[in-house]
Amino acid sequence: MTATPGAQERPNSSRFVDKTVVLTGAASGIGRASAVLFAGEGAKVVGLDIDADGLAQTGNTIAAGGGEFTALTVDITSRDACHAAIAEAAKMYGSVDVLANIAGIARSEHIVDVTEEQWRLMFGVNVDGMFWLSQAAIPHLLESSGNIVNIASNAGLMGQAYTVNYCATKGAVINLTKAMAMEFVKTSLRINAVAPGGTDTSLVANFAIPPDVDFELMGRYTSARGFSQPEDLANVIAFVASDDARAIHGAIVSADNGITSG
Ligand SMILES: NC(=O)c1ccc[n+]([C@@H]2O[C@H](COP(=O)([O-])OP(=O)(O)OC[C@H]3O[C@@H](n4cnc5c(N)ncnc54)[C@H](O)[C@@H]3O)[C@@H](O)[C@H]2O)c1
Repeated sequence: MTATPGAQERPNSSRFVDKTVVLTGAASGIGRASAVLFAGEGAKVVGLDIDADGLAQTGNTIAAGGGEFTALTVDITSRDACHAAIAEAAKMYGSVDVLANIAGIARSEHIVDVTEEQWRLMFGVNVDGMFWLSQAAIPHLLESSGNIVNIASNAGLMGQAYTVNYCATKGAVINLTKAMAMEFVKTSLRINAVAPGGTDTSLVANFAIPPDVDFELMGRYTSARGFSQPEDLANVIAFVASDDARAIHGAIVSADNGITSG
């Protein structure tokens, strides 16, 4: 059996030299793995997250590998904080080449139990942050012929019981991506989404399902092939963000081990 190359072992290891990559969710999971991969391939990475300690750990990992990483502690539900973070990244490095909107939160609950605060927070993190960061970054990305990679989910492509709030946000991510792609279809700016399925991160580890759900309804939301590792998703995100994917625009790239195929 051939080993799958990990993020650090890619033969093509310099796709992001001289590129500035701004990404959210950099303190954990898929965002951290992506930050490490981008930095390992030469990018100047600006990592945004609400979790300052997690960002520091990501920074230590990248520094140990000789990469460049700037941590910005930001709550991406705030429009002004998103605009300020992009302005800071652009000022620091002179350009923004990639915006990867990776941060997200998830919860499982019965529809009747969703509070207004929970509903709005989920949209605030999963959709609003992505929109405000994109809005602020687009002028820079147009200048650099850069691109945006939004993280959706298999949950945005199929109806799932007990996660209606999450599904609604990820459905919004998918059509936000397509609509933005259409607005810029005549430019060199590319805008895509990656839609992961179950991935071994703290989001999944902390995913508490109400005790009285009908598990027959939930079985089809996981793959018979098991969970991906965060590095697997980082590989897909980096590919979509790289020039290798120059023909990909307005696409929803599934990386869900087949969940949405049948
Ligand atoms: N893990 C999975 O199975 C899975 C499946 C499909 C999609 N996704 C998506 O992948 C993305 C990354 O998730 P993950 O699995 O790596 O989870 P994770 O919990 O490991 O990482 C999410 C990060 O988002 C950050 N974050 C949360 N609220 C924030 C805020 N207000 N401002 C800034 N940062 C904030 C967290 O601090 C955390 O570092 C999410 O968009 C998630 O919906 C994950």
